[in-house]
Amino acid sequence: MFRTISNNLAFFRQFRQRFETTGAIAPSSQFLARSMTRFLAKRGSGAVRVLEIGPGTGPVTQQIIPLLKAGDRFDIVELNESFVEILNARFQQDEAWMEAAHFSEIHQLPIQEFQPDEKYDFVISGLPLNNFPADLVDSIANTYFKLLKPDGVLSYFEYMYVRPIRKVVTRGDEKIRITRIDDTMQGHCDRHRIQRDKIWINIPPAWIQHLGGSPGEGGGVAG
Ligand SMILES: C[S@@+](CC[C@H](N)C(=O)[O-])C[C@H]1O[C@@H](n2cnc3c(N)ncnc32)[C@H](O)[C@@H]1O
Repeated sequence: MFRTISNNLAFFRQFRQRFETTGAIAPSSQFLARSMTRFLAKRGSGAVRVLEIGPGTGPVTQQIIPLLKAGDRFDIVELNESFVEILNARFQQDEAWMEAAHFSEIHQLPIQEFQPDEKYDFVISGLPLNNFPADLVDSIANTYFKLLKPDGVLSYFEYMYVRPIRKVVTRGDEKIRITRIDDTMQGHCDRHRIQRDKIWINIPPAWIQHLGGSPGEGGGVAG
């Protein structure tokens, strides 16, 4: 309880200080976090490589950790040093996190600069793409697929109706920016989508997109 309040306050401070990269007023709900890990939860018995991007205070990390086993690899990429501090403290203090610590690593850098030796079975991203310049979204979306194995799954969330509404109510450069982001992300979804979940219990409600590493990996849309 104390940790939840303290994490919410820390998150809100970062929302005020770094709105563009924090992108939300509060950490994601456990419902959203569970949806983000639904494919990892169905993993087979072999070792897996998992990458979480933009964990913030760690609500999704909290759902990922119990799904991991010895022999797996868990990399976390987070830009903001305040969030990295919070996550490091949890790896030192929280029992379940401590058990995963020897195969987990936090990398403090922007995802565009992350260059691991191997690709991942699961890429789980909390980045607020709608806040970024369109070129950066192009580059990050390409990075997602570069980091993902062909049979891997990328899961990310986007707040509901933000782009459709902004496309209508904005003008000029902002309209161009949001339209380009929408075209980019919609294109990836059209080619790679396996499933879409709707999560209403979150501030704000969100769609969770699950995409396969290879085009045409499934194609069904739920939720
Ligand atoms: C909307 S918050 C999501 C936090 C958390 N996953 C959650 O669901 O509550 C976005 C997170 O992405 C991080 N972030 C933003 N841009 C990033 C980048 N280029 N590379 C890595 N992390 C980034 C922010 O610092 C923040 O922690």
